[in-house]
Amino acid sequence: MKQRVFSGARPTGRQHIGNYIGAIENYVKLQEKFDCIYCIVDIHALTTIESTSELQQNIFEMTLDWLAAGIDPKKSIVFVQSHVPEVTELFTYLGMVTPLGWLLRVPTFKEKARMQPENINYGLVGYPVLMAADIVLYKSNVVPVGEDQLPHLEMTREIVRRFNFLFGDTFPEPQAKLTNYPLVLGLDGAQKMGKSYGNHIELAATPEETLAGVKTAVTDPARQRRYDKGHPEICNVFSLHKFFNIDRTQEIEVQCRSAEIGCVDCKKLLADGINHALKDFRARRSALAKDPDHIYDVLADGAQRAQKIASETLHEVKTKMGLVRNA
Ligand code: TRP
Repeated sequence: MKQRVFSGARPTGRQHIGNYIGAIENYVKLQEKFDCIYCIVDIHALTTIESTSELQQNIFEMTLDWLAAGIDPKKSIVFVQSHVPEVTELFTYLGMVTPLGWLLRVPTFKEKARMQPENINYGLVGYPVLMAADIVLYKSNVVPVGEDQLPHLEMTREIVRRFNFLFGDTFPEPQAKLTNYPLVLGLDGAQKMGKSYGNHIELAATPEETLAGVKTAVTDPARQRRYDKGHPEICNVFSLHKFFNIDRTQEIEVQCRSAEIGCVDCKKLLADGINHALKDFRARRSALAKDPDHIYDVLADGAQRAQKIASETLHEVKTKMGLVRNA
């Protein structure tokens, strides 16, 4: 039997190249060897967002990007977290075996509490427990995540160990699987690429928008004039060449170091590389966007398949916890 992969991502709408390099590309590859479940975690999103007016649109756009990128609903289960409400029931049960002290020490909790001091809600504290529920509801073995999620995964493993100890062997201890590019910097070269920082390029951008975005990228600060020699090892544009211009990376490195090309030329090459790499993706995305019903069908089918597994696990959990008569 194939091992099960589970990963979740918040519904952030149109995905950017950082999402692609850091997560989506990996999701696509894992489909070959694993039984994969990919979930859009709308309930988790409620812990931090102020307005839910764009939530449905964001779920739709994100699903489009996933499918256009090659996540194949025939191979994998793709669904929206709240469509399988069993997860919230399991979340409640796991909450009973999770010491509060663990949760208050999680670094992401502390950071979010600092960022939204006026909204430190109960759900925010329980965030890692809900994530554990996502993972174990499907008895998942492998969880592809970015570096920032490792503490959450460690918490899932502790919850699993505790549950198994108290109620008997039930869940496998899931392993984290980091991508090859766990951290993709934004165009500012300063922080992680992210929508909220406005330092990103959308996968669905037009070639013109892509070039305009790349032009704003921060390069080697020591290169002020066209004839200054470059230092690719500290240039974020160069690090993106490694992904989008794999065949030409060495050549570009040499040309940058010798000032044979300037930053403007280099950015043009990067935009060309991105546009070339995403050409097929963009064509598939526009085609998929013409048939929204298909997208909703995929999500409905995914929820149905996920729910089947979820209800079995939940029954087992309730039985083990003594909630079922005549078990
Ligand atoms: N916490 C993850 C993030 O913010 C999203 C997530 C929710 C997740 N549930 C998950 C990731 C289960 C992996 C497995 O990116």
